[in-house]
Amino acid sequence: MMIFKAFTLWSMWLNLAHLSIGGLRNYKFDVEYMIQKPDCIEEIVMGINGQFPGPTIRAHVGDILHIAVTNKLFTEGTVIHWHGIRQNGTPWADGTASISQCAITPGETFHYRFTVDKAGTYFYHGHYGMQRAAGLYGSLIVDLAEGKKEAFHYDGEFNLLLSDWWHKTTNEQEVGLSSIPFRWVNDPKSLLINGRGQYNCSMAAHLIKTTLPQCKFELGEECAPHILQVDPNKTYRIRIASTTSLVSLHFAIANHKMMVVEADGNYVQPFSTDIIHIHSGESYSVLITTNQDPNKNYWISVGVTGRETTPQAFTILNYKNIPNSLFPTSPPPFTSCFGGYNLTKAFTHKILALKGTPPPPHYYNRRLLLLNTENLVDGCDKYAINNISLVLPSTPYLGAIKYKINGAFDQNPPPDNFSADYDIFNPPLNPNSKSGNGVYTFELNHVVDVILQNANSLNEKNISEIHPWHLHGHDFWVLGYGDGKFEQGDERKFNLKNPPLRNTAVIFSYGWTALRFKADNPGVWAFHCHIEPHLQMGMGVVFAEGVERVESIPGDAIRCGFTRNIAMNKKHN
Ligand code: C2O
Ligand code: CU
Repeated sequence: MMIFKAFTLWSMWLNLAHLSIGGLRNYKFDVEYMIQKPDCIEEIVMGINGQFPGPTIRAHVGDILHIAVTNKLFTEGTVIHWHGIRQNGTPWADGTASISQCAITPGETFHYRFTVDKAGTYFYHGHYGMQRAAGLYGSLIVDLAEGKKEAFHYDGEFNLLLSDWWHKTTNEQEVGLSSIPFRWVNDPKSLLINGRGQYNCSMAAHLIKTTLPQCKFELGEECAPHILQVDPNKTYRIRIASTTSLVSLHFAIANHKMMVVEADGNYVQPFSTDIIHIHSGESYSVLITTNQDPNKNYWISVGVTGRETTPQAFTILNYKNIPNSLFPTSPPPFTSCFGGYNLTKAFTHKILALKGTPPPPHYYNRRLLLLNTENLVDGCDKYAINNISLVLPSTPYLGAIKYKINGAFDQNPPPDNFSADYDIFNPPLNPNSKSGNGVYTFELNHVVDVILQNANSLNEKNISEIHPWHLHGHDFWVLGYGDGKFEQGDERKFNLKNPPLRNTAVIFSYGWTALRFKADNPGVWAFHCHIEPHLQMGMGVVFAEGVERVESIPGDAIRCGFTRNIAMNKKHN
């Protein structure tokens, strides 16, 4: 019987591989610490197969990816999440520790197998503790199925993964966040473009024509930027994704306009812009035309929005006929950090769905109103959603729910809304909240609205931080943004005509953001602020739908906590 079952499963798998026209792509990822100089300063980074950032995965729609991830970290667990991939039918491959699977213990290998079903610019990253901030990330690009063409033309493409970097290990950062007194991670030391940046100058030094001794920028150095080499009068697609731990960024190329065509793996109504504003967890594709003076090079800059101390990162757009070592003669597109978020807001509002994007249902079955606050839990600084700060359980939810394990997590669901008289413009009257790990359970195929409500920070008046919220397992429609407190009547302002489909959306200071999605993907899914220290401080919730329909969770996904015994009876995957 067992043999028969294994056989049917295997042949089902083969059928699946066969049906999808696409191919099976195998990758072997060894996750390990390495010594590197991401911003010219030697540090420990988390890399894959000796590379930082990890290798780029490139596939076609319909392909099945098989990624064998081996933990070579020696002292800590790891998992890898495939950000933006919906994992239809494979919720156990989502790569979230304590939610979709047990962390992979040192020396062990976990096999992720899933289909990529939508073209776009995605990425992958660690989803255990603060391993993303430690450098565990890479790009995942899905092209249209073989033989299919994009609706827009381009002659070549570049792929830029943006991140922020500290000179403090994530271990130290994590401990600081949970200490009394609380120690914030502070601003990043540098910004990285494809894992490369220049701490405290380099290109900036050339730029302002000073000769700081620490600025020894030379092409060919480990931390030297990757230069974008182009031919004149061509069109290029530039993919830009942000895996930052903390900061919101803006991106620009001197003298070149950008046409935005994609956001988070969905096509958008094209619009032209000088600056891209991008938050952690978001991705964009832009088209540029190389129609400027071909005897010059041009600065490409990346800067931090709303924070003062992190210098911008640079690279160069090099017209191939001239040497790439020639510094641009015109100034970079912007020289200092932007103070506020007004431009970011205006940019975000311009993202609308391209015609042909599935429209949202005109109703909802369930509405959650989620208040985001900074609080104290037992004297520790935390974030809470409707007054509950998320602390993940030791038994992953997926297995615990599927196998109806008692006591693996809090059986009381967290509240669907918050008190109507909460004053979002002032520090909380009662700063104390509690930690929890309850789940929001949706009926399969129900339409869910989530209104994220921002509020004042814990201590100071006039501070309300922005938070980019990311949903696993689905895209959502962004129905609208508003200032102040969400009121029932605001519903009339929802965009039901062409709201963008995305997987990440920001709540701005003292504002709300309304999202709608269909709970049509059996599994357990994280929904959280993509700022890594915020998630670490409890800024997330857990959604579950149709878990009884989830088939064949591999034993290796549940080999911990209360599901360990069930895993023992399953074949090693
Ligand atoms: Cu990219 Cu749960 O995150
Ligand atoms: Cu946040």
